[in-house]
Amino acid sequence: MKKTTSKSPAALTPDFGVIGGSGLTRIDDLQVVHRQVCRSIWGEPSAPVTYGRLGDATIVFLPRHGAGHTIAPHRVNYRANVQVLHDLGVRKIIAVTAVGGIRPDLAAGSIVIPHDVIDYTWGREHTFFGGHASGSEVTHVDFTEPYATGLRQALADAARSLDIRVSTSGVYAATQGPRFETPAEIDRIEKDGGDIVGMTGMPEASLAAELAMDYANISVVVNPAAGRAPDGVHISLDSIYAELAAGMEKVRRILATAGADVASL
Ligand code: HPA
Repeated sequence: MKKTTSKSPAALTPDFGVIGGSGLTRIDDLQVVHRQVCRSIWGEPSAPVTYGRLGDATIVFLPRHGAGHTIAPHRVNYRANVQVLHDLGVRKIIAVTAVGGIRPDLAAGSIVIPHDVIDYTWGREHTFFGGHASGSEVTHVDFTEPYATGLRQALADAARSLDIRVSTSGVYAATQGPRFETPAEIDRIEKDGGDIVGMTGMPEASLAAELAMDYANISVVVNPAAGRAPDGVHISLDSIYAELAAGMEKVRRILATAGADVASL
């Protein structure tokens, strides 16, 4: 497989990669070392990557929706994003996402480190093993543990040391978007076992698994899922933005504190 091509002034080895979602298109505490334009055999990633120091770790940061938050969930080139990180030497990814809360205890403002995922997305380029090289053998990947236990533990420990409450398990339901769900869809997802619902958790997680990378997700609940607001109000973008700002600030602190632990895994 041809490697990612990039314009790089330095060959830094990153300790881990962070893929940021809505509300995390940049990490303010990151001491930026350099930015790098990359290209993969799957095309362009969402944005140039940023190398930087976060706490005691060297990370590579990639904003999933582009630097200007212009790429919708179903248009993200997930394969290019995961491939460029892999080609840059990243073997551990922490993915940050904004989600709706389904489980009753997961009100807006909650932070969740999920342990499992259900994929409701469709039509996305979801595998590296789709036979792009004709004649290549069909490959199946184990996905029993979509989110790496060690990474989840490092995030949970960091949150605890900061006195930030997090839910250390939950099932992430990945929907297609960009619209939100109907109440009936949320009822169905809840029956299936979904605790939180977002639009970008897949196929990112399984693509990382296909490249044998450790991957964990940390999600900020920014709204009650459709039909789940106690007062029956509809989903409002204004209140989502307010929750995003507060929640992502906590996630930044968790990431900075977890950095050294994640690096040493
Ligand atoms: N549904 C799907 N994706 C989301 C939601 C939601 O309610 N909130 C934030 N991302």
